[in-house]
Amino acid sequence: MQVSRAPSPRRLGVKLTRLRGLWYRCGMRVVFLAPTFPPEMIQYTRGLAEVGAAVYGIADTPREALPKDLKPYLHDYLQVPRIMDEDDVIARATNWLRGTTIDRVLANWEPLVILAARMRERWGLPGMSAEVVRGFRDKQLMKERVKAAGLRVPRSQRATSEREIREAVEQIGFPLIIKPIAGAGSADTYRVDDAAALERILQLTRHVPEVSCEEYITGEEFTFDTVCLDGKPVYENIAAYLPKPIEARSNEWISPVIITVRDLYQPRLKPGVDLGRKVLQALQMGDGFTHMEWFLTPKGEAVFGEIGCRPGGAHLVDQMNYTSDIDLFREWARVATFRNFEAHVPRKYNVGIVFKRAFGEGRVTRIEGLGKWLEEAGPWCVEEKLFRPGTMRRNWKHTLLSDGHVIVRHPDWAEAHRLSFAAATGIRMFAG
Ligand SMILES: Nc1ncnc2c1ncn2[C@@H]1O[C@H](COP(=O)(O)OP(=O)(O)OP(=O)(O)O)[C@@H](O)[C@H]1O
Ligand SMILES: [Mg+2]
Repeated sequence: MQVSRAPSPRRLGVKLTRLRGLWYRCGMRVVFLAPTFPPEMIQYTRGLAEVGAAVYGIADTPREALPKDLKPYLHDYLQVPRIMDEDDVIARATNWLRGTTIDRVLANWEPLVILAARMRERWGLPGMSAEVVRGFRDKQLMKERVKAAGLRVPRSQRATSEREIREAVEQIGFPLIIKPIAGAGSADTYRVDDAAALERILQLTRHVPEVSCEEYITGEEFTFDTVCLDGKPVYENIAAYLPKPIEARSNEWISPVIITVRDLYQPRLKPGVDLGRKVLQALQMGDGFTHMEWFLTPKGEAVFGEIGCRPGGAHLVDQMNYTSDIDLFREWARVATFRNFEAHVPRKYNVGIVFKRAFGEGRVTRIEGLGKWLEEAGPWCVEEKLFRPGTMRRNWKHTLLSDGHVIVRHPDWAEAHRLSFAAATGIRMFAG
């Protein structure tokens, strides 16, 4: 495997930015892991191609089944039998790319960030090491590293057996949270209020090999999202979870709402921004997207929740794009390849997404209240992608995407909030 870095323009004596851009764009070759899944990875592939990188995609999707809208952005593609089999993927990719100069290995989907780091190490490429990335993947390790930097994290303990869980509960006390060490989508995450609940939840989490037991933090929950260059945000965002993900995932009747906050630097949220920036330093973030979750306690304190070195899913990047009328799929690509952020990001709107869940099982049969809501929202509704009658329902426990969504935006927080909740309560979907 040949190794190349973008040549230094200073060394070449090239002064003009445009010329430098052109020079860089000539040679950048990027391996992008799993351009086919989740579906928004097609957008990141587009971004990479649009900034001038040649994208070498690797996934387990058969070549014949590659989505039509992805193909124009792929320079080449390797189908592997199992994308999660790290050693096998590394061996096949090494073989496939022999003689090709690769400049970056990137992944924006949580389960593949370690694999991308291992490939970088194997091929001697710049970017975060597997050891650094582990701090974004292992929930206990990330809390230890964040805590060691003097930042506020929930008290927590790692446990691999029932005995260890009981010991952790002794230490931490009720209420507490039990969740997988390497979890996503709030799967197998439980709030435990008392001894009786503990017995029930011990049964439910039996299949999880390793859990994190955590002090339960009371308060509101927010994201802190960034695109970073050398761990320093060149783009920042906050979104409010309404309600907290654990509640949204425990009650099917809830239509989860998430709203990006236009007034990002308001005093109330400052502790979260400060915390977020320090967490990035503590975990030695490099270049790319991050997605952090944090709690704002009734006393106004920010407490760390978790962080990934990848973008938020479930259309969060679309919401951020609607917030400022930008294209972060492309701007991320520019940062991750040419280490340059050019976008102007005026925060124009608060952008709310409302996920809907149909009442009943099977296929969606009808939608009520949509016409009235669309009329009320008028031009502030920017997307309406609810499942139409005849569509099979998604499993709401498996994905926040549920049975579709609407996106609404408004310059005033109160109005964005009102229109979002009008959709949450006023639109009703049925299945049967
Ligand atoms: N210590 C805690 N105190 C209070 N609530 C918590 C705590 N830990 C987790 N939760 C709740 O459980 C949810 C899921 O936990 P966490 O974010 O760690 O898991 P996850 O599976 O990675 O979630 P996701 O992929 O949905 O972001 C959080 O968003 C929060 O609502
Ligand atoms: Mg989470």
